[in-house]
Amino acid sequence: MTNQPKALVAGNWKMNGLTAAITEIDSLNHKIANHPNMACELMICPPATILATAVLRAENLEIGAQDCHAALGGAHTGDVSTEMLTDLGVTAVILGHSERRADHGETSAQVAEKVVAAQRAGLVSIICVGETEAERKSGQALGVVSEQIAGSIPLDGTHADNIVVAYEPVWAIGTGLVPSVADVAEMHAHIRDLLKGMFENDGDKMRILYGGSVKGSNAAELMNVDNVNGALVGGASLKADDFFAIVEAAYL
Ligand code: 13P
Repeated sequence: MTNQPKALVAGNWKMNGLTAAITEIDSLNHKIANHPNMACELMICPPATILATAVLRAENLEIGAQDCHAALGGAHTGDVSTEMLTDLGVTAVILGHSERRADHGETSAQVAEKVVAAQRAGLVSIICVGETEAERKSGQALGVVSEQIAGSIPLDGTHADNIVVAYEPVWAIGTGLVPSVADVAEMHAHIRDLLKGMFENDGDKMRILYGGSVKGSNAAELMNVDNVNGALVGGASLKADDFFAIVEAAYL
């Protein structure tokens, strides 16, 4: 499609990666340097413990975090503020991932507070939405995602440069299952309509990523779907070769 925002391929390392994993970022640096005309931007979101090292080592790729606290600072043991992230040179933060919604009971209202905090600090929010298998089977997928979008994205302060939406069907994460091209197209068109309803022309410029079992072998098909502006990749982002295979399939 013409007029689409530049694609983003982001890797979510989740709770994986000790200091030695930084060599994967070195390897990505080389691959990117060899392909100056890539049709996408790249980002890696490593665990918090190696964010600072990752920022220092990354060349021509962004480094994002996987969560944040909504407050500026204070008595919140173990949490990290958005200002602490920008202080490191981190440029984005994944918010509302289904694993945080499930493991930590995060609600869309809490996600929206974190998005406000990210905007306050100048971070891009990668806001995750997606239905469970039961919700899809009972025909509720579009409705669930509508509610998550409306609840997780604040109207004030949001524009095309500071949010990215990631559609990640929960049943496709880490399972090897992917929705049909028709279902991806339907959901991404639906999300585009919602964003245009909320943000008018800016809604056309917001990136909508697909996430859930993306790998080199399925990336071309998924990334070619209308309104798919890149990928949020879990398992296949841990090794530079696997991650770059996605770029090679879809954006080189
Ligand atoms: P997988 O690519 O491992 O399915 O994970 C997707 C995901 O949750 C990215 O945030």
